[in-house]
Amino acid sequence: MPEDWLYSVRMRAADPAGRHLSGAERIVEEPEVPEVAAQLLARALDRGSVVEARISVDGRERSQVHSIPCLPVTDVCLPPGADPRLLLGPVCCSVEVSPSALDAGLRGLREGFRTDGAPTRGAVILDSISGARLDPHLERGVRARHFDYSPTGRDAARKTLEEAGLGHFRTFEALALASKVAWSGVLLELCWSDDGEYRPGYIATRQHGYLRLAEFKPAGAVGGRVFFAEGPQAVPEIIRRLEEEWTLVEPPVRVVRREA
Ligand code: COA
Ligand code: AMP
Repeated sequence: MPEDWLYSVRMRAADPAGRHLSGAERIVEEPEVPEVAAQLLARALDRGSVVEARISVDGRERSQVHSIPCLPVTDVCLPPGADPRLLLGPVCCSVEVSPSALDAGLRGLREGFRTDGAPTRGAVILDSISGARLDPHLERGVRARHFDYSPTGRDAARKTLEEAGLGHFRTFEALALASKVAWSGVLLELCWSDDGEYRPGYIATRQHGYLRLAEFKPAGAVGGRVFFAEGPQAVPEIIRRLEEEWTLVEPPVRVVRREA
């Protein structure tokens, strides 16, 4: 393996029905590849019903990998029972996502974007004004890939999040994803996990950073991710960046708490 290359190590695991159970990616230097592949395989096999686990490795010249800033994190505390729209409305307005586009996004996250009610395998892209679906694969959506924290950023990010009481692996990985999504030209991202038990979610924009809400997902919602884009002409470049460009998220990670 040439030394001036970096390597993406990816894992995905599925259950007997072929349903996706777990996935993760690291971008590392060549000597770390065997150990990281073993760690990801162990993570895959840790899921009880896994019967299929795949590890993929491929490389890219280091000079072709982008360093991108980590979005700052705000842990937003809404009063008990408050409507998250108190926060969402002004944020959407300031990045020109219309109220009807926001409604379309929230409805999809609640009821699912697919006819069978299952979550899409990636995020859906909606027009920021009309709320119309813009990505081409209706059952699949689009998946951000080829991103990780930089080697120096990884431990620092984990430590900062843990110290702020946000040490869950989902927050750690979602922050890197949201940083890449914002860098790819998405105006605003909304995320509710598709794990039924997990209620925190976030809104992210380049201007406002990663706004985490502890109780964002309503009970019974399907979950998923929505990316709002500035019209159909913006979509091909967003998808190219999300899928093809390799990015390492750089520190510092900043976390503040805000009462809303
Ligand atoms: N949900 C459902 N199905 C998924 C999936 C997901 N999140 N990710 C992969 N699959 C399944 C799909 O069937 C997919 O086929 P499709 O492209 O038609 O949907 C198939 O696996 C192959 O996916 P692909 O992305 O080509 O596989 P890969 O092995 O190259 O990468 C992942 C798999 C999970 C690593 C990648 O999709 C991903 O999500 N990367 C981001 C990981 C991350 O969160 N990193 C955080 C770093 S801090
Ligand atoms: P999770 O936070 O892992 O529960 O994922 C929530 C939703 O995000 C999933 O249901 C998918 O719709 C979407 N998703 C998962 N992985 C990705 C990805 N790599 N890029 C974009 N969207 C994703």
